[in-house]
Amino acid sequence: MGSPKNKLAKFAEFDSFENTFDYSHETKGKWSEIFGNSNPIVVEFACGKGEYSLGLAKLNPNINYIGVDIKGNRLWRGAKNAIENGLNNVRFLRIQIDNAAQYFNSNEVDEAWITFPDPQPQKRYKRLCSGKFLNIYREIMKPNSRLNIKTDSDLFYETALEQAVLDKLTVEANINDVYRLNPLPEFLNIQTFYENIWLKEGKKIKYVRMILGTEKSDETKRISLEEGTPLPPLTETA
Ligand SMILES: C[S@@+](CC[C@H](N)C(=O)[O-])C[C@H]1O[C@@H](n2cnc3c(N)ncnc32)[C@H](O)[C@@H]1O
Repeated sequence: MGSPKNKLAKFAEFDSFENTFDYSHETKGKWSEIFGNSNPIVVEFACGKGEYSLGLAKLNPNINYIGVDIKGNRLWRGAKNAIENGLNNVRFLRIQIDNAAQYFNSNEVDEAWITFPDPQPQKRYKRLCSGKFLNIYREIMKPNSRLNIKTDSDLFYETALEQAVLDKLTVEANINDVYRLNPLPEFLNIQTFYENIWLKEGKKIKYVRMILGTEKSDETKRISLEEGTPLPPLTETA
């Protein structure tokens, strides 16, 4: 049978897959049960068609991956690919990231990725690396977990680094041109739908990995580093 072409058919099929979840499922505190093991859990926020979760799941069979996005027709693609490739360590969750704490227990997540998020040029607080969102991630992640960010956007990249400075977070990796790394680590050599678009336009791909820390970001503070405050330095390796 071919793939359903229209959105409604994809939604119906999405619901019927065993590796997909949404607001109607009680997943909070149940992810290890869902995966059938107690392996670490890595969440990809704004996963779109889920290429990164799928790629990482192939590389690390003993880690469980959950791709989160609000767009069901995009998640459908990821879920179908996971089924077709027999990948049992990846699931997809259709929710607003803002509501993540309703679908995950505190301490349930070991690590997170954000891949090619919308840069939200008008509204800083809407960027997925703003203090507001870091606090949402902290609600569901183990203390001092890692947040990985891959982006084409200079604005998003700089906001992430500024937020790290404001929150005094440890930045373990800061690469301003991923494909200049030699050797290129396998975990960075996974391309998503949006990454391929930006690569064709010749954009440089940036990667930042920070430790989220336990202290909450101040969401009320208007982000502005004092003039001249240095951003975290570039690192040689990822
Ligand atoms: C530019 S796309 C990137 C998708 C994918 N990571 C890629 O690289 O191809 C951004 C994605 O973020 C999702 N997104 C943005 N804000 C969200 C939110 N608050 N909750 C859930 N998904 C969100 C959108 O639905 C969209 O699929």
